[in-house]
Amino acid sequence: MDVFKAIKWRRSVRRFSAQKVEREKVLQILEAARLAPSSSNRQAWHFVVVDDPAVITQIPDTVPAGTRRIVNFMKEAPLVIVGCYSKALTHYIAQLAGHENHLVDVSIAMTHMTLAATDLRIGSCWVGWYGESRLRNLLKLPRKYRVVALLVLGYPAERSTEEAIAGIPARPRKTLGEIVSHNKFGENY
Ligand SMILES: Cc1cc2nc3c(=O)[nH]c(=O)nc-3n(C[C@H](O)[C@H](O)[C@H](O)COP(=O)(O)O)c2cc1C
Repeated sequence: MDVFKAIKWRRSVRRFSAQKVEREKVLQILEAARLAPSSSNRQAWHFVVVDDPAVITQIPDTVPAGTRRIVNFMKEAPLVIVGCYSKALTHYIAQLAGHENHLVDVSIAMTHMTLAATDLRIGSCWVGWYGESRLRNLLKLPRKYRVVALLVLGYPAERSTEEAIAGIPARPRKTLGEIVSHNKFGENY
């Protein structure tokens, strides 16, 4: 799939079929993360692949009960990849100048994964709502790692169309005019 087609075809998929994601495809998705750029090429990331249903179903329980509906869909998913970092020295130095490069690095790698998954006709949804300390215990994540986000993955329950994976309608996007400036902020491009 052409990369721009994957960008346009991707949607947040929250309903999955019972079909497991084949190991070879999981490895392809992880390869897309491995090849991602990172600040000073530190690659200070770690990805926890969770495919044990007994573990996946506990992840939504890490957030306060009143907000679980935002993430409960994950209980039916066959696969979750948890994106983490452990800051390198260069990350601490960049942070002194106000740059959160460690978050940028993991986010780029996770974006690569969403596009690779789309190319493989595998649905994905970012999840930024999790209880980090409970998740840390569940995954036995060492102290030095922090979680950035989760990717929930699986074959979509719904049939895809030419327009979108799982036939999901596009969510609204701002126009280029609203989000782009030319040379100086606020000048039209
Ligand atoms: C950092 C981040 C966190 C998100 N967290 C959640 C989440 O906790 N639960 C959820 O259902 N969707 C979550 N989403 C998905 C967004 O709601 C979705 O990307 C957005 O509405 C646009 O829809 P689209 O992905 O189908 O284009 C998250 C997306 C991002 C990028």
